[in-house]
Amino acid sequence: MNGDFTFAIIKPNAVRTGKTGPILAMINEAGFEIVAMKMVKMTLPQAETFYAVHKGKPFFESLVEFMTSGPVFVMILKHANAVEEFRKLIGATDPSKAEQGTIRKLFAVSVQMNAVHGSDSNENAEREANFFFSGFERFM
Ligand code: RTP
Ligand code: MG
Repeated sequence: MNGDFTFAIIKPNAVRTGKTGPILAMINEAGFEIVAMKMVKMTLPQAETFYAVHKGKPFFESLVEFMTSGPVFVMILKHANAVEEFRKLIGATDPSKAEQGTIRKLFAVSVQMNAVHGSDSNENAEREANFFFSGFERFM
């Protein structure tokens, strides 16, 4: 199972502007299976815990403020080599550096409002999936 799933978020700017459908279509077309998904409005403590790794960085406070500014969709995605494949599909953190055809190139409006999140390692995929889906293994 390890390596076959990742955790993703459709961020508030994308949900707010009606990009959820087009982003989900791209995820499907790229061959990912959505095995769990729900809409969540994160609380400040939730966002601070989720992004604890960035605590102390200059963008931390505005990041958690943004991520709590509206509902998001959190999901678990299944695919071979899912973490790496999904990061390829979403593109670089900074949309001006994101490759053509990636989700961020199409739907991000800034480094902060960059439309989607994707786990950066198998360990973090497991940690993040557990954070939002208790007993997430049952979805696999
Ligand atoms: P993500 O975690 O959202 O998938 O994004 P990422 O791995 O590509 O980027 P990461 O370094 O983990 O940063 C997390 C989120 O923080 C915001 N950020 N702002 N210089 C900045 O202003 C800055 N750097 C990062 C972005 O929203 C990024 O997605
Ligand atoms: Mg990250």
